[in-house]
Amino acid sequence: MEKNQSLELNKLEVVYQGSIIAVQGATLSVPAKSIVALLGVNGAGKTTTLRAISGFLGIDNARVTDGTIVFCGETLNNKMPHEVVECGIVLVPEREKIFATLTVTENLQGCLKGAASNWSKQVETIFHFFPILYERRNQVAGYLSGGERQMLAISNALLCSPTLLLVDELSLGLAPMTVEHLMERIQALNKELGLSILMVEQTAAALNIAEYGYVMENGHVVFGGTAEQLLKHQNVQEFYLGISEKGTKSYREVKQYRRTRRWMG
Ligand SMILES: Nc1ncnc2c1ncn2[C@@H]1O[C@H](COP(=O)(O)OP(=O)(O)OP(=O)(O)O)[C@@H](O)[C@H]1O
Ligand SMILES: [Mg+2]
Repeated sequence: MEKNQSLELNKLEVVYQGSIIAVQGATLSVPAKSIVALLGVNGAGKTTTLRAISGFLGIDNARVTDGTIVFCGETLNNKMPHEVVECGIVLVPEREKIFATLTVTENLQGCLKGAASNWSKQVETIFHFFPILYERRNQVAGYLSGGERQMLAISNALLCSPTLLLVDELSLGLAPMTVEHLMERIQALNKELGLSILMVEQTAAALNIAEYGYVMENGHVVFGGTAEQLLKHQNVQEFYLGISEKGTKSYREVKQYRRTRRWMG
C-alpha cells in the first residue's frame, strides 16, 4: 500500500527554554501535492512551527513538548534536521538561506545532495524554473536582487530532493510584482514536480495559489479552511488584505482590529 504522504500536525506544542510556550495545540494538515498557506502576524508562532517540523529547535533551546508531527506515517517529533531532510522535508528559512560570498553556481554545487552525476540534470531543472539564475550563474549571490535571492534559496532547497517544501516568508520586503512572480513559480513547482508546499506568510498573497490555509495567532491555529473560504473571511480581509467593513483600505483600522484579537472571541 502506498504511504500517506501528507504532513499532519496534531495538537503541537513547542516550548523555548523550558518555559516560553510559542506554539500551543496547533493542528494542521498538508495533503500530498498541495499548497497550504499558514498566515499570522509577528510572533504568532509560524517560524517556530516550521522549525519544529524541520528539526531546527535545538539551536534555540526549544522542544516539542506535546502533540505529534507525522509525515508519510513517520513521527518526526524532535528529530535532527538531517533526519527530516532524509524523510523528504526541506526548509527554506526566513534568514541566512544563501551563501552570500559564493557565486550562484557555487551555491548550487554546495547544496547538491547525493551523487555529483546528478548535477547536470538537477541544475537543468533549476534553470528551467528560474532562467534568471542561469543568466546570473557566475555572479556572487550577495549581489542578487531580493527576488533572485529567494529563487536561489528555493533552488538550494530543491537540490535536497524534497517532496515537501517549507517556505518561510518568501514575500518579505519584496515589491508586489516580484511576489506575484515568485508565487507563480511556486505554483509551477507544485504542478510540474508534484511538490507539496507549506508557505508561511504575513500577507494573503499565498492564498492566490494555495488550496488550503490556516491562520495562527498567539501560538494557536485559530482558523482553517479552503483558500476561497479564507479570502472571503471578514477577519482575513481586515487583517491580511487591509479591507475594512466599508470596503475601504485603512491600515489604522486594521491595526485597531488587530488589537481586538477577534479570532479568539
Ligand atoms: N529563540 C527564542 N527564544 C525564546 N522565545 C522565542 C525564540 N524565538 C521565538 N520566540 C518566541 O516565540 C513566539 C513565536 O515566534 P515565531 O518566530 O515563531 O513567530 P512568527 O510567527 O514566525 O513571527 P514573525 O512573523 O515575526 O517571523 C514569539 O513570542 C517569540 O518571541
Ligand atoms: Mg517568522
